[in-house]
Amino acid sequence: MKMIDFNRRKFLITGAAVLGAAGVVAGVGWWYRARRAPHAGMETGAAAFPNALRLPGTSGVLGVMDVAAPFTMLAKPVQHAILEGKPAPVLAYQVEQDGKTWVNPVFRVRTGATLQAKLSNALDENTIIHWHGLKVDARNDAHPLYEIGAGTAYDYQFPVPNRAGTYWYHPHPDKLTSKQAYLGLAGFFIVEDDEELALQKALDLKLGATDIPLVIQDKKFDEQGRLLYAPNEEEKVNGYIGDTVLVNLTPRPHFNAATRIYRFRILNGSNARIYRLGFAQGGRPLEYQVIGTDGGLLDRPYPVKEAFLAPGERLDVLLDLRAAAVGDAVMLQSLAFDPMHAEGSMAGMAMDHGAMGGMDHGAQPGMLADGAAIDLLRINVASKAAYEPRVPPKLSTLAPVKSAVAKAREFVLDLKDRRWRINGEVFEMNKTPVTVQRGVNEIWEVRNDKASMPHPMHLHGVPFRVLGRSGSPQQLKSVIVNEQGLTATDLGWKDTVLVWPGETVRLAVDFSHPYPGDQIYLFHCHNLEHEDQGMMINIKVQA
Ligand code: C2O
Ligand code: CU
Ligand code: CU
Repeated sequence: MKMIDFNRRKFLITGAAVLGAAGVVAGVGWWYRARRAPHAGMETGAAAFPNALRLPGTSGVLGVMDVAAPFTMLAKPVQHAILEGKPAPVLAYQVEQDGKTWVNPVFRVRTGATLQAKLSNALDENTIIHWHGLKVDARNDAHPLYEIGAGTAYDYQFPVPNRAGTYWYHPHPDKLTSKQAYLGLAGFFIVEDDEELALQKALDLKLGATDIPLVIQDKKFDEQGRLLYAPNEEEKVNGYIGDTVLVNLTPRPHFNAATRIYRFRILNGSNARIYRLGFAQGGRPLEYQVIGTDGGLLDRPYPVKEAFLAPGERLDVLLDLRAAAVGDAVMLQSLAFDPMHAEGSMAGMAMDHGAMGGMDHGAQPGMLADGAAIDLLRINVASKAAYEPRVPPKLSTLAPVKSAVAKAREFVLDLKDRRWRINGEVFEMNKTPVTVQRGVNEIWEVRNDKASMPHPMHLHGVPFRVLGRSGSPQQLKSVIVNEQGLTATDLGWKDTVLVWPGETVRLAVDFSHPYPGDQIYLFHCHNLEHEDQGMMINIKVQA
C-alpha cells in the first residue's frame, strides 16, 4: 500500500471519530483558511507581532558569552515572564562572571579552545549537560550514565575540535531530557574559526545585530503564563506539541531590519514539532540562501524557497533585504505540511481515535496542529542601509565523504506496543547493541517503517554526512536539491537527520577521534518524548 493511501485511510478514520465535534479536521481547516486569507494590511500585521524579538546582547537572557576563563553553570528554577506581565517559573542555566549575569548564554568559542565549566545542579532532580554536535569524549558528552543528583556538581573540560558552526547545549538525564529542555534549559554554542571570521568580515555580520541566532520552540501555557508540560499517553507517542511558538523565547515577535543581508542561525529547539521554513513578502515566497547546517558552512550557498527543520537540527541562512523598501514586511513562516502521523497500523489508529475522543488535540481553533502553517517572526524593513558586500560564491571546502566498502549497518525504526524502537529494542542504559571500531568509516542505513512518523535521528560525539534518501514522501519533492535525494538541510556535516515514514536514509559516519579508551555515545530520536520513551541506543566506539 502506498503511503498516501495509508494517510488518507487514517484521515478518514480519525475524521469520522470527530465528526460533529470541532476536532482535528476543523482545526486543520481553520489554519488553512488563515493562510489563504488575503494578506493583512501592514497595521494589522504589525499589531499581531507586538513583541520585539529578543536579541543576544552582552549579558542577560541569551546574552553572548565569550568562553575564556572557567565558569559555572547553575541549573535552577528562575522567574521569567515569557508572556508579558506574567512572570512564571522556568528552568535556566545561569552564569556569573566579571560582575555580569547570563541566562542560557550564547557561548562563543574559537575552534581548538578549551572549555572548562562546572555544572551546578540546583534543580530538585538529576540532570547533566550535553553539548549537542560537539566532538568530545563520552565523559564530556554527558551520556545519562554521568547524570548528577540535585545539589551536586559536574566538571567539564575539553578542547573544542569542531569546525565553525552553530551547535547547542541542553540537558540529557535519563527520561528527564524532554521535560527539562521544555521548561527552559537550552542554549546556543557558536564555534568560530578563521574561515568563519572571514565570512563575517566579508558580509559585515555582527552576532546579535545582523548575525542572529533564532531558536524556535513551541510551548503550552496556562492562564497564569506558566509552562505546561504534562504529556499524556498519546503525546508520549506523538511528541509534545505546543500551541504558542516562541522565537528566542519571544511570543509573536518582530524584528526591525535594514535593507541589507542578514544571517539567521536557526535552531529547532522544540521537543517534537517540525518546521517547514520559508520567508514571504506579501504572501509571495522569497528565495533565501542556505549557507550552513548542523556542522557549519557548506561549500557554497544553496538558494531555496523552503526547508524542513526537525528538532535538534540547525539551518544557517542568509536573507537579502536589499531589494526591499522601507515599510515592507517579510514573514518567517512555517508552511503547512503533512506531519505524517500514520503511526503503527491499526493499533496506531485506535490510539489516535482515543486521543480525539479524550480531546485536547485540535479541538479549539487556537490549537496549533502539527504541520499547521505558522507565522513565526515578522521582519519589518524599517531603515535604508548602504550595503555593498556580495555573498562569496565559495564558502568552505568540505572534505570528500569517505565511503566505507564494508556492508552498511542497518537501523530500523518502528513502533510496537506504543514504544518507538530502534532495531526492535528500546533503550537500556547498560546495553550496547552496537560496537564500532574507532577510526573506521561506516555506512549507516536508517530505515523508517511506513506506518510511522518522521524521526529526527541524532548521533552523539561523531559527525556524519548524508549520502542519500530513498522512498521519500511526495512532499519532499519540492525541497530536494540533488540526484541523491538530499534536501538543503541534509548538506554538509550533520549530527541530526530527519527520516520520514517509508524512507531509507544513508549516512557516512566517521568514527575517527583522538580519545583514548572505549567511548559510549548515543544514537537517538530528537523528538524528545521519543528519546525519553527509549528511542535511543548505545553506540560503543572501541579504541
Ligand atoms: Cu541534542 Cu542526545 O541530544
Ligand atoms: Cu547531541
Ligand atoms: Cu522519533
